Amino acid sequence: MAGEEALVARAREVIRANDRGAYTVPTGGLYPFQWNWDSCLTALGLAHLDEERAWTEVVTLFAHQWEDGMVPHIVFHEPSDGYFPGPEVWGTGRPTPTSGITQPPVAGFVVRKLFDRAEDRELATARARELLPKVDAWHEWFYRHRDRAGEGLVAVLHPWESGRDNSVDWDEAFERVPTAGVAPYTRRDTQHADPAHRPTHAQYDRYLWLLQRFRDLGWDNARLHDASPFRVVDPGFNAILIRSCADLASVADALGASDVAARNRARAARALAALEGLWSEAHGQYLCRDRTTGALVDSASVGGLLPAFAAVPRERAARIARTIERWARHAAYLVPSHDPTDPRFEPQRYWRGPVWLVVNYLIADGLRGAGEEDAAARIVDSSLDLLARSGFAEYYDPLTAEACGGRSFTWTAAMAIELLAARRGVGRPPL
Ligand code: GLC
Repeated sequence: MAGEEALVARAREVIRANDRGAYTVPTGGLYPFQWNWDSCLTALGLAHLDEERAWTEVVTLFAHQWEDGMVPHIVFHEPSDGYFPGPEVWGTGRPTPTSGITQPPVAGFVVRKLFDRAEDRELATARARELLPKVDAWHEWFYRHRDRAGEGLVAVLHPWESGRDNSVDWDEAFERVPTAGVAPYTRRDTQHADPAHRPTHAQYDRYLWLLQRFRDLGWDNARLHDASPFRVVDPGFNAILIRSCADLASVADALGASDVAARNRARAARALAALEGLWSEAHGQYLCRDRTTGALVDSASVGGLLPAFAAVPRERAARIARTIERWARHAAYLVPSHDPTDPRFEPQRYWRGPVWLVVNYLIADGLRGAGEEDAAARIVDSSLDLLARSGFAEYYDPLTAEACGGRSFTWTAAMAIELLAARRGVGRPPL
């Protein structure tokens, strides 16, 4: 208990240090701006400290939503030269500069969590009412611009959109992204973190090629999808969107917005049915589909376990729990971001093996909801163990628990608070 209190006290300190008033930065130095899914997931931890501040985190993000409905992956509130590519490279022409791509849409899920658990009901009702049409518009944007053939599933057009930047999942499709014509640049990330923990230079060139291509198209979302050589349907990303649609529908019901509820429920049902097309019996999990070739991508990453977070059939969730057990025989800490028996697994390189606590949280929440209590508890235990051993790292080596990437990470600290509160049964959390 004393250890837990100390952990929460330290988590608070991390969040306080990264708090910029109306939003948090993921960590000073490496990521000095507001990131989309970092902020939303951070709000879950913040809510245990200060409900109003938690709502503000999400409201600030949505104040920078584009007119077409997209919510950008970075909001550059204040200038800082610590990060590349900065606003001048993105060139999106927004009043407050933003990036031009999006990120995993966890907002619907988070709004429901904040709303359902709120003690200040009046505040929660006001904020949820304000956010409801905005989150709904973002969902609408996804199915309009990223599911152009009406398949029920949306594609990411840049690995950064997936939130799993350098996953093995993107390697094959990335081969089709050229590197010629990328303007000379200097990376800043490798000045803040060990280059061996970060994406390679060849990957960085391609990240920038895509960015330049989209910028040349004037960031017109009606054109980007068909013009991109990189279009991948990520089961994890889609599962998050499905869950957010379903959760937004629940909030909409509570607020009497039956049209919003019906729209989002229909989106979730359609997408859930389509998700079945990504199931791989051989891997015991879902796989990405390369929309350019139509083929499934033979890469067993954590993205294919994340569908447990959506209401997939029970037998799928059970099978995912078994797959995690199998991975656990090769990794001391859960959940590695890539199958540890795959030769492409790298325990310290960003999304090619390391454990990320936010992903653990989402998978555990889903497994618990599907009745896979033991698997969920094991993931939560592993997460708390990593926190106790190695602090609030960006991510962790699943073989040794070593802290990797940046330190004093906001969303990792938020997860510590959320997971411990959940364990104590405070505020009816899911775990
Ligand atoms: C990295 C991660 C991404 C995260 C961002 C800020 O780009 O891959 O998921 O949102 O850092 O923490």
